[in-house]
Amino acid sequence: MGGRIPASFIDELVNRVDVVDLISSRVPLKKAGKDFQACCPFHDEKTPSFTVSPEKQFYHCFGCGAHGTAIGFLMEYDNLSFVEAVEELAVRERLEIPRESGGQSGPDYRPLYETLEQAADYYQQQLRRHPQAAKVVDYLRHRGLSGAIAADYGIGFAPPGWTNLLDRPNWGRKGTEHLKTCGMLSEHEDGRKYDRFRDRIMFPIRNRRGRVIGFGGRLLGDGKPKYLNSPETPLFHKGQELYGLYEALHSTRNPDRLLVVEGYMDVVALAQFEIRNTVATLGTATTRPHLDRLFRAAPEILFCFDGDRAGRAAAWKALETTLPVMRDGREACFLFLPDGEDPDTMVRKQGPQAFQRLMDEAVPLSTFLFDRLREQVDMQSLAGKARLSELAAPLLGTLPSGVLRQMMFKQLETIVGVEIPHPSRPIAASPAPKRRPRTGAFLGTMPPVRRAIALLVSNPGLAATESLPAGWETLPLPGIPILKELLENLHSEPNLTTVALLERWRHREEGKYLGQLTAFLLPLQQEGQLRELRDTLSSLARQALMNEWENLMQKAAAEGLSTEDKKRLLQLSEEKMKRDNQENDG
Ligand code: GTP
Ligand code: MN
Repeated sequence: MGGRIPASFIDELVNRVDVVDLISSRVPLKKAGKDFQACCPFHDEKTPSFTVSPEKQFYHCFGCGAHGTAIGFLMEYDNLSFVEAVEELAVRERLEIPRESGGQSGPDYRPLYETLEQAADYYQQQLRRHPQAAKVVDYLRHRGLSGAIAADYGIGFAPPGWTNLLDRPNWGRKGTEHLKTCGMLSEHEDGRKYDRFRDRIMFPIRNRRGRVIGFGGRLLGDGKPKYLNSPETPLFHKGQELYGLYEALHSTRNPDRLLVVEGYMDVVALAQFEIRNTVATLGTATTRPHLDRLFRAAPEILFCFDGDRAGRAAAWKALETTLPVMRDGREACFLFLPDGEDPDTMVRKQGPQAFQRLMDEAVPLSTFLFDRLREQVDMQSLAGKARLSELAAPLLGTLPSGVLRQMMFKQLETIVGVEIPHPSRPIAASPAPKRRPRTGAFLGTMPPVRRAIALLVSNPGLAATESLPAGWETLPLPGIPILKELLENLHSEPNLTTVALLERWRHREEGKYLGQLTAFLLPLQQEGQLRELRDTLSSLARQALMNEWENLMQKAAAEGLSTEDKKRLLQLSEEKMKRDNQENDG
């Protein structure tokens, strides 16, 4: 996607997202007064010092100093770039990200998405209109699929023939190029192009924003290859995509769990029985990017495999890939089907209730791990137990720190009957920040410029106050330019919230400083902040006045004053007197 993301969109996004909702989908939070608390996900601790404020839409850890907005949380916790975090939240809020034209951020993929969308439309049309459509519809019916599910998943038909898609009149030269880039065309040796997908049932693969990025095509009968996928393209990376994820999240926004199956047909067959939280890898093993996506969408992943040898081997690989991402709050289970069955045949034979029961009986990752290892050794002998410990320890060692890791090491100890040293391990994704806590300090101990900035960032509404004290702008102090700019920001956009303001400043050095100040003020009372701001600005103004007055007095002694200077000195003296009187009155 080319173009910058407009600031107004970021405002809308951070104002719409509920940071409590977002964080609690990853870290279990407990209500504590008007805030929420948890043990910090960014460092190891036993008592909770991680606080999330629904009012400020901001989180802060008093233990390690980690803090930020919803976007910042995703960047740290899910290890995302800024743009990825914004995309993630946009999906969550079902907002389309607008892009400003111009800018120089990355190639513009819009024509490619457009091309694939048109191809998908075309295939869907052919499923209704092509002279051979009846045979395809029959096949799908025969496999238990209704028109409604076919429509939900955008299933279509690539007709037989070499250039059906290519010869559509709407492409033009550019369009043909795009078709090629999107992987929809193959090429003869002499350079002539032809349709990659011919005489196949077409499953569009959508990204998390619902845009088609590729296809899987199934032959109608037997033959090879049974499935043909889009090749790697700028939009499509087979090892990262999950078929059905968009559709699953579209039907349930925050599913408790996602079921991972092997085939396209499994996903749609389960959906046909209202089991819609299912995704499939595209004929590859489960990868780390898959897992990152899955756990971003749901706290529990249920892997479904064939009960045969190949299925067990694949499950073991999935387990190895999953261990390092098993942070607290996440769960993974394994479900094995009887030999020769896949979820599609199972659910059609036994019905959705039976399948649901199978899902509920799935074995937890820890059980699967220890059971498999037990099978490989002689548990009656000491040597066998020692062997089990040898096999298990390195696997458990890949778990991130947390309760699960501790429990699994404990379980291993119980099984083998001796203590095993637990290698300690920092949280994989983001090492604990080194910042020291700054609890105990409070607003009153801050230097005044910093205090004013802190008050404004944490209460942007204060900027709209009529006649805030002025005259401090000329002070030669380090924070003054920031304070000025902040007030200007807030005057031209009076509705900015704290988090929107922080996002505006994210890409600047000073943004870090504003974030720290917000974190610092998080536990403080609201009352009296306007007064505090007035007093602070007023004392700064006084300081500015005194500075100027003293400068002029020095100049008077050294070289004498111009007429201008004299006028100014008079003004300052009056102002000074007025203030002194006010202070005596008040
Ligand atoms: P049906 O046979 O129609 O029930 O489909 P299925 O999805 O159950 O297929 P199967 O269990 O044989 O394969 C599981 C998944 O592996 C498929 O959905 C594809 O993603 C992938 N796959 C299977 N066969 C092929 C193939 O010939 N080529 C490629 N590239 N992928 C395949
Ligand atoms: Mn199948």
